[in-house]
Amino acid sequence: MGISFAFRRRSLIRLAALVAFILIIRYLLLPPPATTEIAHHNYIERVTRAADKSLDVQRYPFLQSRIGREEELDILTKFVEDGTNSFWTNFQLPFLLAPETQHVDAQAVRNSIEDLLSLNGWVAAACPTLSRPFGQNRREDSYDGIVGENRLYYIAIIIHSADHFLVDQLATIVQLARRLGTRNIFVSMLDYDSNDSTQTLTDLAEAVMTLLSIPFRIRRVDPMYEEEAASYYPLEEAYTRNLALEPLHELNVRRGIKFEKVIWLKGFTCPNDILENLQVSKANHAAMTCGMDWAESNGFFIFSDRWRTRDMDGDQFRVSRSSSPSAPPREEIAAKRYAAHLPFQVFCCESGTHIVDPAQTYYRGLAYRNSARFHNSTSSNPPPTWDPYGECMDSSQASFCRDIWVEAARNGARPVDQPAKPERLGATSSAGRVKRQVQAQDKAVPPDQAEDQAESPDQAEDKAVPPDQAEDKAVPPDQAEDKAVPPDQAEDKAVPPDQAQDNGVRPKIKEESDANAGSDYDAMPGSSPPPLEDSHTSFAVPNLHFEPARIIINPRCVTTYAGVSHTRLANDLFGPDEDDLVGGYDAHKYVLEEWAAAPDSYVCQEQRYTGGRKSPKNQRSSPFSIQSELEALL
Ligand SMILES: *[C@@H]1O[C@H](CO)[C@@H](O)[C@H](O)[C@H]1NC(C)=O
Ligand SMILES: *[C@@H]1O[C@H](CO)[C@@H](O)[C@H](O)[C@H]1NC(C)=O
Repeated sequence: MGISFAFRRRSLIRLAALVAFILIIRYLLLPPPATTEIAHHNYIERVTRAADKSLDVQRYPFLQSRIGREEELDILTKFVEDGTNSFWTNFQLPFLLAPETQHVDAQAVRNSIEDLLSLNGWVAAACPTLSRPFGQNRREDSYDGIVGENRLYYIAIIIHSADHFLVDQLATIVQLARRLGTRNIFVSMLDYDSNDSTQTLTDLAEAVMTLLSIPFRIRRVDPMYEEEAASYYPLEEAYTRNLALEPLHELNVRRGIKFEKVIWLKGFTCPNDILENLQVSKANHAAMTCGMDWAESNGFFIFSDRWRTRDMDGDQFRVSRSSSPSAPPREEIAAKRYAAHLPFQVFCCESGTHIVDPAQTYYRGLAYRNSARFHNSTSSNPPPTWDPYGECMDSSQASFCRDIWVEAARNGARPVDQPAKPERLGATSSAGRVKRQVQAQDKAVPPDQAEDQAESPDQAEDKAVPPDQAEDKAVPPDQAEDKAVPPDQAEDKAVPPDQAQDNGVRPKIKEESDANAGSDYDAMPGSSPPPLEDSHTSFAVPNLHFEPARIIINPRCVTTYAGVSHTRLANDLFGPDEDDLVGGYDAHKYVLEEWAAAPDSYVCQEQRYTGGRKSPKNQRSSPFSIQSELEALL
C-alpha cells in the first residue's frame, strides 16, 4: 500500500505498546458510565447553565457510552482479572499515590495522549504523500475556515465484520479530532453482528477516545434475522443507519445540541480528503456531499458504488477504471467537471465517506427507510404482482436521496439567510439536458462514446422492452459474473438496449474476505434499461418547477478498500501533484454555479425478495415525479 514494511512494523510495535498501556488504564481507572443515554438538562442546569451545550465528557459522563458489549466469560477471564488486579495493587497504585513518583505518572499519561494524537494508523500515514489536485495536501492553511470555527461534527460508522478498516478509521477519527478539536466531534460506532476481531478493536477505540476525551457511543447489536434467506438488505441498512443516528437526535432533543454536519465514514478515506469534502459541502450548502469509491478488480481500480449512484439524467455510472479517460458519470456536465476534478451535481450518491447536512435532512425528520412491498422468500405465500411503474424497492440510500429531493421542493434547500434566486430553479440546466440528447442523436459518435449512442432515446424507443419483459431478463448475480468482461472492454463495446440485460457486464470482483466491503458488490450489469416513454413522464407539474436538491459528488475525496495501491490510484486519478498552490480558498474549485432539476425518470435497481445482500436484483426505468411525491405526503 505504498508504505514501507519497516515503517509499518515500527508503527505496529508502538501501537501495540500503546494499546496495552491504554487498556490497563481503561480497565482500572475508568468506571463504566452510569447511564448510556443522553440525559436531559436537569433543573439546576436549566436555571444556571441554560446555554451549556458543550460536549464536555468530564462534566457529562453519559457522553461516552458503550451499549451491548459482549462480556462472555471464558476460562481465562478470571485468570486475567486476578493478574491485572494484583499488578495494579502491588505495582501501579503505590507508584501513582506516592508524592515522589506522582508527576512521572501524570507525565506518562500526557505523553501517551500526545502519542495518540499523532496516531496515523498504517494507511493513513501515507496520506500526506499522495498526489491530490490543486496541491491540496501541501497547503498548510487549507482548512483554516473549517478548523477554526468550533462547529460540531458527528461521525457515524457502521461496522459489519470489517475489522481491517477499523484501526485506520480510528486513526482518521483521531486526526480529525486533532484538527477540529476533541470536543467538537461526537463518534457513533455501530457494530452490527460482527464476528471477527471488531469487538476487540472497538475496545481499543473506546480506550483511545476515553483518554482523548472524545464523546462517543459504541453500540453492538444482534442481527435482525438468523438466516440470510429471511433478511431484507435495504431494511437492515435502514435499521443500522437510523440506530447510528440515535445519539444525534437524543443530543438535539434532550440538550439542544445541533451538529453542523454528519460524516459517514466508510472504507478508508484520508483525513485531508474529508476536510476537503467538508469545505465543498459547506461552500455549496449541500444536503449531501459524497466522495468516490474505488475498489480493486483484476489488478485495476474501478468506480464502485454503482448501485446507489445516479447522475442528473437518472442514469447509473460506468464501470470505469481509475486510469480510463471515460468518466464514471455519463451525464455530460458531470463528466466534464469530473475530468477537471471539480464537484458535480448528481441525483443520488453514497460512494464511501459522505457528508450529510442534518439541517436539510435528519433535523427535518428524514430517516432511512425501505420499501415494505418486498416478498419474504421464506414464507409460503406466492409473491405479489408488482406494478412495473410503481415504487422502486432499491437501497435505503436511494430512498433517502429521493426524500432529499422532495424535502428540498417542500421546504427549500437554501440556508435561511440566502434568498432564492429564480435562475437557480433549474430551468436552464434542464433545457440543457434536452439539448444534450438532441446533439447526441445528430452527431456522428466516436467509438468510445458509442455507449451513449446505443442508449439515445430515439433508438431505444423502437426497441424498448416493456418493463415486465425486461424483468424476465434480469440476470442473477452468479450468471452475470460468468459473462464478466473487464471494465475497459465493456466501455468500448456498444450494447444494443434489447440485449443489454442478457449481456450484462459486471466486473469480476475477487472473492476476498472483504469482497462485500467494496460497494460494487451490489452493482448490476453495466448497461441501463431504455428510458421511459413520454406517457409515463409527462407530469402535470414537471420537476423543473421545484427547487432542486443539493446532492453532489466531490471527486477529490477518495474512498478505498483493501487491495488498492493508494499511490497508484492517486496518480491514475489526479496525475502528478500539480504546482497550483494559489491561495487557500478558490470558489471555482468548490462552488457549483447552477443547480439542475431532478430527472423525470431514473434507473431503478431493486431487491424484490429477501435473501440478504446477494439477493438478485431487478432493473427497470422508474418515473420520478416530485409533484406526486408531495401529494402523497398530504
Ligand atoms: C462470520 O460472518 C461471515 C459473514 O459475515 C460468515 O461467512 C462466517 O462464516 C462467520 N464466521 C463465524 C465463525 O461465524
Ligand atoms: C421473513 O419471514 C421469517 C419467518 O416468518 C421472519 O422470521 C422474518 O422476520 C421475515 N423477514 C422479514 C424481512 O420480514
